[in-house]
Amino acid sequence: MSLDAADAVRDHVVLWSRAVPNRVDLSQLDDAERQRVHAAATPATARQRAAGLTLVRRALAEVLGTDAPAVAVDRTCPRCGGLHGPPRVVADPGLFVSVTHVRPQAGRMPAREAGVIVALTRIAPVGLDIVRSDDVQFPGFDAVALHPDDGLPADATSRARVWARKEAVLKALGVGLDTEPTSFPAGRPGVVQGLPNGSCAIVADLDLQAPAAEQSLGFDVGAAGQTVAAVALARSAPLVAVRWMPSGHP
Ligand SMILES: CC(C)(COP(=O)(O)OP(=O)(O)OC[C@H]1O[C@@H](n2cnc3c(N)ncnc32)[C@H](O)[C@@H]1OP(=O)(O)O)[C@@H](O)C(=O)NCCC(=O)NCCS
Ligand SMILES: [Zn+2]
Repeated sequence: MSLDAADAVRDHVVLWSRAVPNRVDLSQLDDAERQRVHAAATPATARQRAAGLTLVRRALAEVLGTDAPAVAVDRTCPRCGGLHGPPRVVADPGLFVSVTHVRPQAGRMPAREAGVIVALTRIAPVGLDIVRSDDVQFPGFDAVALHPDDGLPADATSRARVWARKEAVLKALGVGLDTEPTSFPAGRPGVVQGLPNGSCAIVADLDLQAPAAEQSLGFDVGAAGQTVAAVALARSAPLVAVRWMPSGHP
């Protein structure tokens, strides 16, 4: 398994997923990560953070052939210097990481499960984003999210796809929402996209239903189209080969 993941990240974007468990597990985290978990405003956020931080470590450990607590991950925020920025593998800067969370929906009965997905690859800086269609159905979304070339998305699923592709690109570039999502159109899968700042990206939609046929994502994403995800690479070559690792981490 470890050899397999170490090989796969050379020419694939490799994905790990897990559900957020009911209790906080700090056992594999370093001091700075534990502090971030303790600083969470709600118990649900603490569980979500701990699950994400732990999954990043487990995935990296699998690729690097080491133990999860031994991996050094820098999360210095490019904007403010705080420790909540994009993860960077200190000992292996050519191994790129992206993380996305799907958070429980407050007030929904039954509450949909929370989950985390982590992407690792050596191909190029990577960005990953997962979006629930319900979360992009608010008045004003189109004004803050869409570029004129995006047109008007036909339904909630298309709107979520546009948003997931844009956030994946912004995460691959490491800028996040510091760059206006309205300043560029969502890329079309498989087509290299030139961006306003002169960089290039390539995006692919992820099929969240397909991995469930062979293996579970580890958490419930609802029916097809209710939750969508996209992955982007900051590069100008047109192929994004994606591979899911079996979930199964508790
Ligand atoms: C990156 C960003 C788009 C993610 O937003 P989101 O869709 O709500 O959340 P997701 O769960 O999909 O992604 C969160 C992950 O993005 C990553 N991330 C944070 N900043 C990032 C950046 N500039 N570029 C790429 N990834 C980033 C982190 O790994 C984070 O997960 P973690 O905290 O568990 O490590 C958004 O947080 C953002 O734009 N951040 C940068 C600007 C900002 O607000 N900074 C605030 C502090 S100064
Ligand atoms: Zn910051």
